[in-house]
Amino acid sequence: MSRFRKDIYAAIFSNCSKLLFVVLKEIIVPKVTAQGKTFECEVGDNLCQVLLANNVELYNGNAKIANCRGIGACGACTVRVDGKVSNRSWIETIWRLLPLSSPMADRRLACQTQVLGDVEVIKFEGFLGRGTGIVWTSEGKTERIAQMD
Ligand code: FES
Repeated sequence: MSRFRKDIYAAIFSNCSKLLFVVLKEIIVPKVTAQGKTFECEVGDNLCQVLLANNVELYNGNAKIANCRGIGACGACTVRVDGKVSNRSWIETIWRLLPLSSPMADRRLACQTQVLGDVEVIKFEGFLGRGTGIVWTSEGKTERIAQMD
């Protein structure tokens, strides 16, 4: 196959995949359920921004003021997400290596997570949201409830 032909095929494939992504973005409307609210967003939207835009109390206590505003440096946006989301970013990988992060196997940094489909979000206790007690569930329970396994 000539170089010219390869370039043509690559260009066609590249444009088709972009078009497919645009079409899928229009067809798939993810639903995010958190703190008793359900709202829609676009595929690829940042979970942290989606939650805050819909008045979900993402941060615990003083973390409402003392947080990094979504650059992945503070860990205060930690949540459990059930559903289709992006893979862990390199920042999250580093966070998981830190001694404080041992209970975080099922936790994600909302600011480093993109929504790819329907998701349910749970917030745990602690400044960094790494406790075992639940602050709120996707259904919206806000009082401290039984610890999760
Ligand atoms: S807001 Fe600081 S790590 Fe997400």
